[in-house]
Amino acid sequence: MKVLITGAQGQVGKALQTVFADAVAVDRQELDITGAQAVASFDYAGIEAIINTAAYTNVDGAQDPAAHDAVWAVNVTAVQNLVDAAQKHSLPLVHISTDYVFDGSQSEPYSEDDMPNPQSEYAKSKAAGDAIAARYSHHYIVRASWVIGDGTNFVRTMLKLGSTKPEISVVADQKGRPTFANDLAKAIHFLLTHHAPYGTYNVTNDGPVVSWAELAEAVFAAAKLDCKVQALSTAEYAQGKPHFAPRPANSTLNLSKLGKTGMIMPDWREALTEYLQKEQA
Ligand SMILES: NC(=O)c1ccc[n+]([C@@H]2O[C@H](COP(=O)([O-])OP(=O)(O)OC[C@H]3O[C@@H](n4cnc5c(N)ncnc54)[C@H](OP(=O)(O)O)[C@@H]3O)[C@@H](O)[C@H]2O)c1
Repeated sequence: MKVLITGAQGQVGKALQTVFADAVAVDRQELDITGAQAVASFDYAGIEAIINTAAYTNVDGAQDPAAHDAVWAVNVTAVQNLVDAAQKHSLPLVHISTDYVFDGSQSEPYSEDDMPNPQSEYAKSKAAGDAIAARYSHHYIVRASWVIGDGTNFVRTMLKLGSTKPEISVVADQKGRPTFANDLAKAIHFLLTHHAPYGTYNVTNDGPVVSWAELAEAVFAAAKLDCKVQALSTAEYAQGKPHFAPRPANSTLNLSKLGKTGMIMPDWREALTEYLQKEQA
């Protein structure tokens, strides 16, 4: 399937390129999605779907008022550019969303029908972008959490810290499940190629719900690193960080809607083992 991948050098964009071998993959230099004219005049010949992974993803950076315009340009206004192009060329649009659109106060995993209540500037912009994508009839809003791919991410940070420090402190009062970018890419491929009904889908790895501290312990155990994890509260972690963004205490997404399409997400523990094999090869 020939898809257009925007933001192609990001974690999700790179993973999608391994799953969609015939993709037209463009980074910001090749297609800045904030440019209405550039998006409208792009060559869509032969393209069968648009997958937008481009976003302003620095969650704390987005809290800086100086970043506001840049955040909204890519996470909100640009989504309309892509919707317009998708509509004009009658293409499905896949848009990636985030668990951060929820406030995290619910104890149960969030379903696709739960009401967003974004708390940070990043989350507000993502929720606004989702709302634009959702107005287009042929949309898949794919909601991921804690993405781990080829880029800066929690597992890579833990591998670095765990190999140099005997003990580290990690936030223990936010829980959820990681989404390995390769598995996310496979799920997007499944939705498109199986012509799943349009709409919003939660897509994370399956497996036990964990805190960041527990995930760090799992990384150290799997990577055989002798590093102890001390539990830290979000409030403690935020101290001294002027632009620290609030994060949901519960980021867990319910996967049953995706499961009903026939797409079963692997347990994150298996995905972590596979990821570490590649990282340590
Ligand atoms: N990372 C997570 O934990 C997480 C969790 C849930 C959901 N998500 C969502 O998943 C999606 C992909 O995230 P990711 O982790 O792959 O992010 P990422 O690694 O930061 O990649 C985002 C990419 O978008 C590009 N980009 C930024 N502005 C652009 C523009 N105006 N035009 C074209 N490209 C632009 C960036 O290029 P530059 O490097 O040039 O800026 C970067 O390559 C995003 O929608 C994000 O909100 C991420």
